[in-house]
Amino acid sequence: MLFTFLMAVGLLGCAQTSPLSKSGGQKVDLSTSIRAKRNSRIIEECMLVGLEEGTYFYKSRGTGDVCGVYLLSQPDQAVQVTFDYLDVDCEADGLVSFVDGWELGGELFPSEVDAPLEGRVHEFCGRLKTKTFTSSGNAALIQYRVPSRGDGFRITVRYVRNPAPCNILVDDVKGVYTLRNHGRRTNCSITTIFPASVSIIQLAVGVNGGAVPNRAIETGVLSRCEKRGSLDYVQLGGGQGLDVTKLEVEDSVCGLDSNPRMPPSHILCGMTTVRMVSSGLTDNSITLAISQITDLDVMPTLMCEVPL
Ligand SMILES: *[C@@H]1O[C@H](CO)[C@@H](O)[C@H](O)[C@H]1NC(C)=O
Repeated sequence: MLFTFLMAVGLLGCAQTSPLSKSGGQKVDLSTSIRAKRNSRIIEECMLVGLEEGTYFYKSRGTGDVCGVYLLSQPDQAVQVTFDYLDVDCEADGLVSFVDGWELGGELFPSEVDAPLEGRVHEFCGRLKTKTFTSSGNAALIQYRVPSRGDGFRITVRYVRNPAPCNILVDDVKGVYTLRNHGRRTNCSITTIFPASVSIIQLAVGVNGGAVPNRAIETGVLSRCEKRGSLDYVQLGGGQGLDVTKLEVEDSVCGLDSNPRMPPSHILCGMTTVRMVSSGLTDNSITLAISQITDLDVMPTLMCEVPL
């Protein structure tokens, strides 16, 4: 039930006209999507992306479409959503959900392999007393289907500090980002929802500097680390969707390099992903400069099979 509701968005309602969930190519173009910039207002668009902090109301006009509010905070923040009020008729098939992450075309960020679905989707209907949810990364989604005219809800969105960010979804055209495992056995990723160039600015992955700190020997950026059997590595790649199990990987790197001078990767896919796999045995970090590819003359180092 849970998942059918999630999947439904890729097939039904607003998704058909949404720039985010085109079938097939999964082309994502946030620049043409609706961006709201007011702090208190009524939700009218079926697909709403990038709200500022504030209070938002939704009142059904009696259509049964599946709609979504896609929320994104800064990388070092988490999304906190408080349902101040909710009145949605369960009998009429009404349903509202808070998703920890984003869902596009049936694929999730963070992917299920790295962050199990359990506990990430909260669904409800009926009348609700105040309830607050906080995302684990910087992305969250409210999906709703409210067929009964006049039913609706009110939410307050806040962006709060995230002391240990792991999964970062990026819609800024340019930026510098760091992934850390904070010493844990966990997989973290950065995904951009556009084709991007990626440069490694600093790398410390799979290297144990613990015994003699500051004395660890720089190995440089090592290639093909996953194939070499390293337990800790960073995949650079891309795909047409958010699911990292479908990622086309250009390289998997590891090692210690405080000043790599490698040419950037130009990943010509609908989405670009850098995924750090950590065993928990070493403290891993990677810093990346990421920018959107707009110049089509750039020579891709990886190109996804499905044309853009
Ligand atoms: C991290 O990814 C690796 C490789 O895909 C997988 O074997 C491992 O189970 C993942 N670890 C966690 C904690 O999800």
